[in-house]
Amino acid sequence: MGERDLTETIRERYNRTAMYYDWMDRMIPERLRKKTIEQASGDVLEIGVGTGSNLPFYREGCRVTCIDFSQGMLAKAKNRVHLTKVPVTLLEMDAQHLSFADNTFDTVVATCVFCSVPDPVQGLREARRVCKPEGKIVLLEHVRSDNPVLGWLMDTLNPVFLFLIGSNINRRTVENVKKAGISIEKVENVAGKIVKLILATA
Ligand SMILES: C[S@@+](CC[C@H](N)C(=O)[O-])C[C@H]1O[C@@H](n2cnc3c(N)ncnc32)[C@H](O)[C@@H]1O
Repeated sequence: MGERDLTETIRERYNRTAMYYDWMDRMIPERLRKKTIEQASGDVLEIGVGTGSNLPFYREGCRVTCIDFSQGMLAKAKNRVHLTKVPVTLLEMDAQHLSFADNTFDTVVATCVFCSVPDPVQGLREARRVCKPEGKIVLLEHVRSDNPVLGWLMDTLNPVFLFLIGSNINRRTVENVKKAGISIEKVENVAGKIVKLILATA
Protein backbone atom coordinates (compact mmCIF):
# COMPACT_ATOMS: atom_id res chain seq x y z
CA MET A 1 0.00 0.00 0.00
CA GLY A 2 1.40 3.46 -0.91
CA GLU A 3 1.90 6.23 1.67
CA ARG A 4 -1.25 8.10 0.56
CA ASP A 5 -3.48 4.98 0.69
CA LEU A 6 -2.10 3.93 4.07
CA THR A 7 -2.63 7.44 5.46
CA GLU A 8 -6.25 7.42 4.19
CA THR A 9 -6.85 4.00 5.75
CA ILE A 10 -5.50 5.06 9.17
CA ARG A 11 -7.40 8.38 8.98
CA GLU A 12 -10.66 6.48 8.32
CA ARG A 13 -9.94 4.15 11.24
CA TYR A 14 -9.48 7.14 13.56
CA ASN A 15 -12.71 8.71 12.30
CA ARG A 16 -14.36 5.46 13.45
CA THR A 17 -12.32 5.24 16.69
CA ALA A 18 -13.39 8.82 17.59
CA MET A 19 -16.80 7.43 18.56
CA TYR A 20 -15.40 5.42 21.49
CA TYR A 21 -11.90 6.89 21.99
CA ASP A 22 -12.76 8.74 25.21
CA TRP A 23 -13.84 5.47 26.79
CA MET A 24 -10.50 3.80 25.83
CA ASP A 25 -8.55 6.90 26.80
CA ARG A 26 -8.92 6.12 30.52
CA MET A 27 -5.89 3.85 30.07
CA ILE A 28 -3.64 6.96 30.04
CA PRO A 29 -3.68 8.35 33.60
CA GLU A 30 -4.23 12.09 33.97
CA ARG A 31 -1.02 12.40 36.01
CA LEU A 32 0.99 11.35 32.93
CA ARG A 33 -0.78 13.83 30.70
CA LYS A 34 -0.17 16.58 33.27
CA LYS A 35 3.53 15.65 33.67
CA THR A 36 3.97 15.72 29.87
CA ILE A 37 2.04 18.87 29.06
CA GLU A 38 3.57 20.86 31.92
CA GLN A 39 6.86 20.71 29.95
CA ALA A 40 5.36 22.91 27.22
CA SER A 41 5.88 26.67 27.01
CA GLY A 42 5.51 29.51 24.49
CA ASP A 43 4.18 28.76 21.02
CA VAL A 44 3.23 25.09 21.18
CA LEU A 45 2.35 22.62 18.44
CA GLU A 46 0.41 19.59 19.63
CA ILE A 47 0.51 16.86 16.98
CA GLY A 48 -2.38 14.36 16.93
CA VAL A 49 -4.53 16.19 19.47
CA GLY A 50 -7.17 13.46 19.28
CA THR A 51 -10.22 14.29 21.40
CA GLY A 52 -8.31 17.03 23.26
CA SER A 53 -7.54 15.20 26.51
CA ASN A 54 -4.36 17.24 27.03
CA LEU A 55 -6.02 20.63 26.65
CA PRO A 56 -6.80 21.22 30.36
CA PHE A 57 -3.12 20.80 31.31
CA TYR A 58 -1.46 23.62 29.36
CA ARG A 59 0.09 26.26 31.63
CA GLU A 60 -0.78 29.91 31.27
CA GLY A 61 1.45 31.67 28.75
CA CYS A 62 1.21 28.87 26.17
CA ARG A 63 -0.38 29.54 22.78
CA VAL A 64 -1.35 26.17 21.41
CA THR A 65 -1.86 25.05 17.81
CA CYS A 66 -3.28 21.54 17.62
CA ILE A 67 -3.37 19.39 14.52
CA ASP A 68 -4.94 16.06 13.70
CA PHE A 69 -5.73 14.37 10.38
CA SER A 70 -9.05 12.95 11.64
CA GLN A 71 -12.11 15.17 11.41
CA GLY A 72 -13.89 12.83 13.83
CA MET A 73 -11.22 13.33 16.51
CA LEU A 74 -11.06 17.11 15.89
CA ALA A 75 -14.84 17.40 16.30
CA LYS A 76 -14.51 15.85 19.77
CA ALA A 77 -11.52 18.09 20.64
CA LYS A 78 -13.60 21.16 19.77
CA ASN A 79 -15.91 20.25 22.68
CA ARG A 80 -12.95 20.39 25.08
CA VAL A 81 -11.49 23.76 24.07
CA HIS A 82 -13.47 25.50 26.85
CA LEU A 83 -11.53 23.43 29.45
CA THR A 84 -8.23 25.16 28.70
CA LYS A 85 -6.79 28.37 30.17
CA VAL A 86 -4.84 29.21 27.01
CA PRO A 87 -5.57 30.21 23.39
CA VAL A 88 -6.05 27.10 21.23
CA THR A 89 -6.35 26.69 17.45
CA LEU A 90 -7.45 23.35 15.98
CA LEU A 91 -6.40 22.47 12.43
CA GLU A 92 -6.89 19.47 10.17
CA MET A 93 -3.40 18.48 8.99
CA ASP A 94 -1.23 15.45 8.32
CA ALA A 95 1.75 15.17 10.69
CA GLN A 96 3.83 13.83 7.79
CA HIS A 97 3.35 17.07 5.80
CA LEU A 98 3.05 20.03 8.19
CA SER A 99 2.18 23.34 6.55
CA PHE A 100 4.21 25.46 9.03
CA ALA A 101 7.46 27.25 8.27
CA ASP A 102 10.75 25.90 9.65
CA ASN A 103 11.57 26.94 13.27
CA THR A 104 8.03 28.07 14.16
CA PHE A 105 7.37 26.53 17.60
CA ASP A 106 9.00 26.74 21.05
CA THR A 107 7.58 23.32 21.98
CA VAL A 108 6.28 20.40 19.94
CA VAL A 109 4.21 17.90 21.93
CA ALA A 110 2.61 14.56 21.06
CA THR A 111 1.02 11.92 23.28
CA CYS A 112 0.43 8.42 21.90
CA VAL A 113 0.66 9.61 18.30
CA PHE A 114 3.78 8.16 16.69
CA CYS A 115 2.31 4.69 17.24
CA SER A 116 -0.22 5.64 14.57
CA VAL A 117 1.45 8.00 12.07
CA PRO A 118 1.91 5.76 9.01
CA ASP A 119 5.51 6.93 8.41
CA PRO A 120 6.65 7.84 11.96
CA VAL A 121 10.18 8.89 10.98
CA GLN A 122 8.80 11.32 8.37
CA GLY A 123 6.36 12.70 11.00
CA LEU A 124 9.17 13.13 13.52
CA ARG A 125 11.36 14.84 10.90
CA GLU A 126 8.52 17.30 10.40
CA ALA A 127 8.26 17.84 14.18
CA ARG A 128 11.99 18.62 14.20
CA ARG A 129 11.73 20.96 11.21
CA VAL A 130 8.98 23.16 12.70
CA CYS A 131 10.55 23.28 16.18
CA LYS A 132 12.94 26.16 16.89
CA PRO A 133 16.59 25.00 17.28
CA GLU A 134 16.49 25.90 20.99
CA GLY A 135 12.93 24.51 21.33
CA LYS A 136 11.70 21.35 23.07
CA ILE A 137 10.17 18.18 21.66
CA VAL A 138 8.12 16.33 24.27
CA LEU A 139 6.67 12.90 23.52
CA LEU A 140 4.67 10.47 25.64
CA GLU A 141 4.62 7.20 23.72
CA HIS A 142 3.98 3.51 24.27
CA VAL A 143 6.61 1.34 22.60
CA ARG A 144 7.43 -2.28 21.78
CA SER A 145 8.69 -4.17 24.82
CA ASP A 146 12.38 -5.19 25.02
CA ASN A 147 11.28 -8.40 26.70
CA PRO A 148 11.54 -11.11 23.99
CA VAL A 149 8.27 -12.85 24.91
CA LEU A 150 6.24 -9.66 25.37
CA GLY A 151 7.84 -8.16 22.25
CA TRP A 152 6.84 -11.26 20.24
CA LEU A 153 3.30 -11.07 21.66
CA MET A 154 3.06 -7.38 20.69
CA ASP A 155 4.26 -8.18 17.14
CA THR A 156 1.71 -10.99 16.91
CA LEU A 157 -1.23 -8.95 18.20
CA ASN A 158 -0.28 -5.75 16.34
CA PRO A 159 -2.48 -6.37 13.23
CA VAL A 160 -5.55 -6.65 15.47
CA PHE A 161 -4.89 -3.26 17.15
CA LEU A 162 -4.00 -1.67 13.81
CA PHE A 163 -7.28 -2.88 12.30
CA LEU A 164 -9.49 -2.02 15.27
CA ILE A 165 -8.01 1.32 16.36
CA GLY A 166 -5.42 2.48 13.79
CA SER A 167 -2.58 2.22 16.33
CA ASN A 168 0.54 0.00 16.33
CA ILE A 169 1.53 -1.52 19.66
CA ASN A 170 5.02 -2.54 18.53
CA ARG A 171 6.64 0.70 17.36
CA ARG A 172 10.29 1.35 18.29
CA THR A 173 9.67 5.04 18.86
CA VAL A 174 12.91 5.91 20.70
CA GLU A 175 14.86 4.52 17.71
CA ASN A 176 12.55 6.39 15.30
CA VAL A 177 13.16 9.66 17.16
CA LYS A 178 16.91 9.14 16.72
CA LYS A 179 16.47 8.24 13.02
CA ALA A 180 14.65 11.57 12.53
CA GLY A 181 17.76 13.40 13.74
CA ILE A 182 16.15 14.62 16.99
CA SER A 183 18.55 14.96 19.96
CA ILE A 184 17.21 13.02 22.92
CA GLU A 185 17.99 14.55 26.33
CA LYS A 186 16.11 12.11 28.56
CA VAL A 187 13.95 9.00 28.25
CA GLU A 188 11.91 8.25 31.36
CA ASN A 189 9.96 5.02 31.87
CA VAL A 190 6.67 6.26 33.24
CA ALA A 191 4.56 3.08 33.21
CA GLY A 192 6.74 -0.01 33.26
CA LYS A 193 9.19 0.10 30.35
CA ILE A 194 6.45 0.28 27.76
CA VAL A 195 5.34 3.89 28.21
CA LYS A 196 8.10 6.46 27.84
CA LEU A 197 8.33 10.21 28.30
CA ILE A 198 10.89 11.40 25.77
CA LEU A 199 12.40 14.87 26.28
CA ALA A 200 14.38 16.14 23.32
CA THR A 201 15.58 19.14 21.36
CA ALA A 202 15.29 19.70 17.62
C1 LIG B 1 -3.99 7.16 19.94
S1 LIG B 1 -4.62 8.71 19.41
C2 LIG B 1 -3.94 9.83 20.63
C3 LIG B 1 -4.74 11.09 20.76
C4 LIG B 1 -4.24 12.08 21.82
N1 LIG B 1 -2.93 12.57 21.51
C5 LIG B 1 -4.27 11.47 23.19
O1 LIG B 1 -3.22 11.44 23.86
O2 LIG B 1 -5.35 11.04 23.62
C6 LIG B 1 -3.61 9.09 17.98
C7 LIG B 1 -4.03 10.38 17.31
O3 LIG B 1 -3.08 10.69 16.29
C8 LIG B 1 -3.77 11.10 15.13
N2 LIG B 1 -2.90 10.84 13.97
C9 LIG B 1 -2.40 9.65 13.58
N3 LIG B 1 -1.68 9.80 12.46
C10 LIG B 1 -1.72 11.12 12.15
C11 LIG B 1 -1.17 11.89 11.11
N4 LIG B 1 -0.44 11.33 10.13
N5 LIG B 1 -1.40 13.21 11.11
C12 LIG B 1 -2.15 13.79 12.07
N6 LIG B 1 -2.73 13.11 13.08
C13 LIG B 1 -2.50 11.78 13.13
C14 LIG B 1 -5.05 10.26 15.15
O4 LIG B 1 -6.07 10.81 14.34
C15 LIG B 1 -5.39 10.29 16.62
O5 LIG B 1 -6.17 11.40 16.95
